[in-house]
Amino acid sequence: MNDTFLKACRGERTDYTPVWMMRQAGRYMPEYQQIRGQIGFLELCKNPGLCVEVTMQPIELLGMDAAILFSDILILMEAMGMPLEFHEGRGPIFHRTVRDQAAVESLRQPQAREDLGFVMETIALLRRRLEVPLIGFAGAPFTCATYLIEGGSSKVFWETKKLMYRHPEVFHGLMEKLTTATIDYLQAQAEAGAQALQLFDSWVGILAPDDFTEFALPYVQRIVAALKPHGLPFIYFANNGATLIELSVATGADVIGLDWRLPIGDAIKRVGPRAVQGNLDPFALLLPEERLRQRIARLLEEARPAHGHIFNLGHGIHQHTPPEQVRLAVRLVHELSRR
Ligand code: CP3
Repeated sequence: MNDTFLKACRGERTDYTPVWMMRQAGRYMPEYQQIRGQIGFLELCKNPGLCVEVTMQPIELLGMDAAILFSDILILMEAMGMPLEFHEGRGPIFHRTVRDQAAVESLRQPQAREDLGFVMETIALLRRRLEVPLIGFAGAPFTCATYLIEGGSSKVFWETKKLMYRHPEVFHGLMEKLTTATIDYLQAQAEAGAQALQLFDSWVGILAPDDFTEFALPYVQRIVAALKPHGLPFIYFANNGATLIELSVATGADVIGLDWRLPIGDAIKRVGPRAVQGNLDPFALLLPEERLRQRIARLLEEARPAHGHIFNLGHGIHQHTPPEQVRLAVRLVHELSRR
C-alpha cells in the first residue's frame, strides 16, 4: 500500500511529493473514451463495475499516488429530486431550478446509503483493488446551490446573487438542505471505505470575502466538523480562492487546495501549519519537457516550507490534454522531489 498521499495530508515526512490531479479520470484518456463510447455519462456514474475501471485507469497508466472516486458532484442533487441531463458540449442541465421557498421545500433529503448505494458499492469494490488511497468527494454547498439556482453552469451567476441578496432566507434554507444532504453523503462514503474526502467549491471565488463569511463558510465548517470523528484527512478546494485563503483555513479542513492564480509559497505563508494541495496551471501541461521540468522544480522548491504538500493542478485537467504529458508531469514530480 502506497500511503505517501495520506502521510502528506497529515504533514508527515514522505520520501517524495505525492501527486494526483483533479479530473484525472476522464475524456483526455483514450481508455476512458472507449468506455464512454458505449454508455452515457450519468449511466456510467451509476455502474459500479465501470466506475471502478475508470477510476483505476490514471493509477495504472499514469502513476498517480491517489485515486478519486469516479462520480460527479451533481449526482447528489439528482437524488434530491432534481432530474439532470448532460448534453455533449453544453454541460449539465437541470430540468427545474430552485429559486423560491416552495422549490427549496420540495427538495428531498436523500438517504445516501440507499439512494446512492451505487457510489458506496463503487467505493467498496475499489478498496479491494487499489494500492493507493481512495479520495471520496462532494460539491460544497455554495457550488451545488449555483447549479440548482441557475439550472446548470453559468458565467455571471446572476440568479444566484439575486437570490442571495434579495431573498437571503430562501438562499440560507437551500444551503441548510444541501449541507444536511452532504454530511450524510460524505459520512456514508467514509463508512464505505473512502480514505480522504475533498469538498469541491468550484464557483465560490465569485464571492467577496464578507459574503463568503456569511453565505458559505458556516456550512463548510459544519460539514468539516461533522466528518471529524471519522478521522479522514479533509481537503477543501476553493477554486479562484486567492482572496479566500485565510477563510479556507477557517473551515477547519486539514488540507487547503490551491488554484494556480497565486504563488504557492505565498499561499503557504498564509495557510500556516497545515498541508496544501496544488497548484500547477492545468494548461502548463502543454509546455515542452524542459520548461515543464523547470516549472515543476520551482513549484516543489517553493512548497518546501509547507507542513505537507500534495502536488496537484490548480483545477481539473482540460479534456484535450495529451495523456503522455500527464504521465511526464507525474514522473517529473516524483523524480524532482525524491529526498
Ligand atoms: O477524476 C475525477 O476527478 C473524478 C470524477 C469527477 C468528475 N466530476 C467526472 C466528470 C469529479 C471529482 C467531478 C467533480 C465536478 N463535477 C465538479 C467540481 C470540480 C470542477 O471541475 O470544478 C463540477 C463543477 C462538476 C460538474 C460537471 N460535471 C460539469 C460542469 C461537467 C461538464 C463539463 C465537462 O467538463 O464536461 C461535468 C461532466 C463530467 N464530470 C465529466 C467527467 C469525466 C465529463 C463527462 C463526459 O464523459 O462527457
